[in-house]
Amino acid sequence: MNRTVYVNGEYLPEDEAKVSIFDRAFLMADGVYEVTSVLGGKLIDFEGHLARLDRSLIELDMPKPPAFDDLLEIHRELVRVNEIEEGLVYLQITRGAPADRDFAFPDPETTPATLVLFTQNKPGLANSAAAQKGIKVISIEDVRWGRRDIKTVQLLYPSMGKMMAKKAGADDAWMVQDGHVTEGTSNNAYFIKGNTIVTRALSNDILHGITRAAVLRFAKEAQMQVEERNFTIDEAKDADEAFITSASTFVMPVVEIDGVTLGDGTPGARAQRLREIYLEESRKAAI
Ligand code: PDD
Repeated sequence: MNRTVYVNGEYLPEDEAKVSIFDRAFLMADGVYEVTSVLGGKLIDFEGHLARLDRSLIELDMPKPPAFDDLLEIHRELVRVNEIEEGLVYLQITRGAPADRDFAFPDPETTPATLVLFTQNKPGLANSAAAQKGIKVISIEDVRWGRRDIKTVQLLYPSMGKMMAKKAGADDAWMVQDGHVTEGTSNNAYFIKGNTIVTRALSNDILHGITRAAVLRFAKEAQMQVEERNFTIDEAKDADEAFITSASTFVMPVVEIDGVTLGDGTPGARAQRLREIYLEESRKAAI
């Protein structure tokens, strides 16, 4: 594959795109990112992703990103040239490449940010086999830093968590801190008991999922109760249904937690319905 990517103002074949070895994302994980899904060649929840990008940059004292319309144009151009019907657009902004490695932040006047975008083609993202079967999760301790609300590229522990899950014959891991579930390695975590959806409340402990915000809104519109509160892994194991949300999985049913089967081991009706509503509404609002 030789897709077209975007690096600092240029559209390039991926094998010609370069970033400095002094880039702070490479040396210090000093960068933030966003992942936006594409359905029918259009961007899903784009405004939400860009609003969170702004917030991540502000929290890390990084310069403002390019204007909304410019970033929208770059996303659309990459989707167009790479012929993405269903897939993802990945955007990363780093604190740039100073002349030397130094713990202190470089002066943004002399060290401009690095901006990189690329696409991932994912035919069948909406109609995924995993969503029809449901996924299995295990629980692991959450040992990440204390500002998980900022979407940084420090993704080593989430990667390790995914590998722990694979080793245990599962698909993903839910992280637990002080006895309560925070979130999945790259998604927000929920269980359903009766007509009530339970998920952890927003704080610095979790990423404020863009999909989460939309799904909770749709759930309320569908007359489901939503409780945003701490919950234990035992409560989730005892639930009728469970699911995760993210830009790359939408609403993905969970059918097993730490080896305990939920319901009859197939995706729950409510999670499936929420997935349908999310996909339908998001397609309508896609830009
Ligand atoms: N991950 N929590 C974590 C830790 C995440 O990494 C993500 C997203 C989410 C869900 O956020 P959203 O609904 O805005 O995608 C929650 C992306 C998809 C990733 O890293 O690939």
